[in-house]
Amino acid sequence: MVPYDITDIKLAAEGFRRVMWADSDMPVLTQIRQRFEKEKPLKGVKMAACLHVTAETANLMRTLNAGGAEVRLCASNPLSTQDDVAAALAERFQIPVFARHGADNATYYQHIHSAFEHQPILTMDDGCDLVTTITRERPDLAAKMKAGMEETTTGVIRLKAMHADGALKYPVIAVNDAMTKHFFDNRYGTGQSTVDGIIRATDVLLAGRRVVVAGYGWCGRGFANRVRGMGALTAVTEVDPIRALEAHMDGFMVMPMSEAAKWGDLFCTLTGDVSVLRREHFEAMKDNVIVCNSGHFNVEIDIPALEAMAKEKRAGVRRNVDQYILPNGNRINLLAEGRLINLAAAEGHPASVMDMSFAVQALATEYAVHTALPLGVHPVPPEIDDTVSKLKLASLGIAIDELTPEQKAYLASWQEGT
Ligand SMILES: NC(=O)c1ccc[n+]([C@@H]2O[C@H](COP(=O)([O-])OP(=O)(O)OC[C@H]3O[C@@H](n4cnc5c(N)ncnc54)[C@H](O)[C@@H]3O)[C@@H](O)[C@H]2O)c1
Repeated sequence: MVPYDITDIKLAAEGFRRVMWADSDMPVLTQIRQRFEKEKPLKGVKMAACLHVTAETANLMRTLNAGGAEVRLCASNPLSTQDDVAAALAERFQIPVFARHGADNATYYQHIHSAFEHQPILTMDDGCDLVTTITRERPDLAAKMKAGMEETTTGVIRLKAMHADGALKYPVIAVNDAMTKHFFDNRYGTGQSTVDGIIRATDVLLAGRRVVVAGYGWCGRGFANRVRGMGALTAVTEVDPIRALEAHMDGFMVMPMSEAAKWGDLFCTLTGDVSVLRREHFEAMKDNVIVCNSGHFNVEIDIPALEAMAKEKRAGVRRNVDQYILPNGNRINLLAEGRLINLAAAEGHPASVMDMSFAVQALATEYAVHTALPLGVHPVPPEIDDTVSKLKLASLGIAIDELTPEQKAYLASWQEGT
């Protein structure tokens, strides 16, 4: 048996069924896995991966393994771990995994260190925790590291900040920035799964509810459009004038949070920023509002301020719901301790969209192994986006047109005009 630290190995059978169910909706990753099995492009490569431990991630781990990599997996968020999947990874797929749902901070970081025990030369992160831990605590590993991959917007922002500071020690590929990743995963994946998480946590009716969406980036656009589709009256808050204008012309109300706080029934932050909902907003909110976050870290809602100002906290009024009673008697219902609601209260993005994100991860890993990348944060090569989009279209049975020779010549010339 491979090394592991998980909640309960007896959950492996259920986890295995869920991994296989997800696999059936991941045709692009399956094709890559079949090729990896034959070609072994990652033969003997030791990797540490820090990702949400979900059924889709299990299929990515299987793919890396099929390519010959020796990968150890730890969780990128203590509340997103699916314990049955962790059990299946260890028992059925023989992949070392260190992840327990609800792990405390010390265990979370201990698990990160367990993922380093085989001396990896590649990292795969969702939120940059491996890179920052290696940089701060493992100079021995940093010196030997070939490259890393980063899954999410917040991680890419942190990596760019590290590089600007001279702190980055090895090259990293910004998987998030591939078009076949953020156009689809961040928008349609987060859009649907955030609605799913809110409904599972609260069971509230969205039709007619006043929903405030903080941030109109890829994730915010996805969520705002999906929640409006469920009949919610939807307002957007932004700090970027272009995105605010886009939200307005997409037909949303746009207002500052100081106004939205008084108006909304349900608030969701998707900004990657800090203290987007804070004391002054909690004070202005109506009774019995719901607040949640779907951005990467649990800092978008200022929970310490909420804790400090509440006269009473009713923990667990419902699974994934803590209720804070303010001095004025108003109730604020915080979902999933302010952590990613779609992963904490639901199952994260559906397999069919993770198919594309994880196909990019697998191909970016192959590229990283076979390329000498200089220090820096690198884009995913456009050929990978091209491959993934073509494979996905083919799997969906969708054919598209090709440019005719006449069209190619026309589009390449400057002489033709009015
Ligand atoms: N829930 C998930 O599964 C999931 C999936 C992908 C990404 N993410 C995370 O979601 C966050 C957003 O990602 P994205 O790809 O949409 O990023 P993005 O950069 O496209 O969008 C973020 C938006 O938030 C806006 N913003 C920043 N501060 C704000 C504030 N104080 N008030 C209002 N708006 C503000 C920015 O102007 C920007 O338009 C990141 O933390 C990312 O890592 C979560």
